[in-house]
Amino acid sequence: MSTALIILAAGKGTRMKSDLPKVLHQVAFAPLLVHAMKSGAAFDPERTIIVAGHGAEAVAAAAQEFDSRAEVVLQKEQQGTGHAVQMAQEALAGFGGDAIVLYGDTPFIRPETLTRMAKARAQHDVVVLGFEAADPGRYGRLVMDGDRLDRIVEFNDASDQERTITLCNSGVIMARTEMLFSLLDDVNSDNASGEYYLTDIIGIANAQGLSATAVTCDEAETLGVNSRAQLAEAEAEFQSRARAEALENSVTLMAPETVYFAHDTVIGRDALIEPNVVFGPGATIESGAHIRAFTHIEGAHVSRGAIVGPYARLRPGAELAENTHVGNFVEIKNATLAEGAKANHLTYIGDAEVGEATNIGAGTITCNYDGVMKHKTTIGARSFIGSNTMLIAPVAVGDEAMTATGAVVNKDVPDGAMAISRAEQVNKPGFARKLMNILRAKKEKQMKERG
Ligand code: UD1
Ligand code: MG
Repeated sequence: MSTALIILAAGKGTRMKSDLPKVLHQVAFAPLLVHAMKSGAAFDPERTIIVAGHGAEAVAAAAQEFDSRAEVVLQKEQQGTGHAVQMAQEALAGFGGDAIVLYGDTPFIRPETLTRMAKARAQHDVVVLGFEAADPGRYGRLVMDGDRLDRIVEFNDASDQERTITLCNSGVIMARTEMLFSLLDDVNSDNASGEYYLTDIIGIANAQGLSATAVTCDEAETLGVNSRAQLAEAEAEFQSRARAEALENSVTLMAPETVYFAHDTVIGRDALIEPNVVFGPGATIESGAHIRAFTHIEGAHVSRGAIVGPYARLRPGAELAENTHVGNFVEIKNATLAEGAKANHLTYIGDAEVGEATNIGAGTITCNYDGVMKHKTTIGARSFIGSNTMLIAPVAVGDEAMTATGAVVNKDVPDGAMAISRAEQVNKPGFARKLMNILRAKKEKQMKERG
């Protein structure tokens, strides 16, 4: 069955006190909105309609960066969740499949939960996602009648009796698209908040002889973000889930609570991650790679058998082939290290290709930027770059070539050649002692003059 996602994202997010629309605040380096879209991706939705208000342009850009087919409709005035869903009606005119409503500020609904809702939809016209709330607070309450969901009552409108119900509405609702909009036609704003409640469609459905039910999930999945404190809570929740998943997928985390994942981090089984490693977006670590402590990896691919860190930084475009070694205080950006290549100490490799089994000595730098443009460095296979070599790009070093320690290389080095570029050393016999004596005498004289 084809599915349309309707994601409500018009909320101002006043409590965020931010210039950024609430749904664009990030958890694990992805906007909240993208997390909601990822939950819905379980259905491989044919249509994704984002209902935006404040900052709609920025919201559209973020949504389309994740899914270029996402559509954004505007809700100019926020008149309630029911009204918000109605904003998608025109865009979905004639759409034959199911619609599922998600909130853009609720990032943790599991795809499996939505799949369970879809199963329940086979028996019922409308399916609502509920949860047992530890503290039901101001949530809407689900009034059940056995398996059937009779209606949802909003906190503001609930009787004392109804407020004792602990089964609450998460906000996620699924129904056939046409039916959803036709039920919404009957919703009015005649309630304590003066809003068009999406939740009213349940009572209306029952009155029309349709059937509704609730599927439940863990309360943690329904965590919504309204403030910076809740954003931080959401980040913590994401990280603890990601750590548990990594362990479940047979990744070794020596100190799980010190490792931070991005929303899209991929780590293969038997990889070993030491403490205090941070993954930015776009990191893929293959099976059996070893990431040592205090390493930061972003937009990079690390192959099997590679060892990275401690204290290494892999930036976007870093591509490490099998059995490469990248050691302490080494930064790699937009560069490929072929199999067995090593850069173990204090090095910057940017916009470069390093051949198989080549060794990069300590302190080597690819001088890739001339202040205006970036240039490329190419180093062949089985070469040896001496310590403290400056490679002034564009420049190429051949296979089995060497650069002498301290070389400043601005001309290509042919295969098998050695580049030496430094002033020749001169030793002056006895000069060191003589100089020391002169300097000491000077210092003594100064001390005497000062008393
Ligand atoms: C809503 C539900 C409540 C549920 C709770 C779960 C209704 C009437 N109430 O209440 O049953 O327990 O969520 O968190 O549905 N939004 C718009 N446009 C609007 C109004 C809301 O886009 O005009 C968006 C908000 O940005 C937010 C979501 O819809 O992402 C929910 O709105 P909110 O005002 O937080 O609803 P609650 O009162 O919390
Ligand atoms: Mg809310």
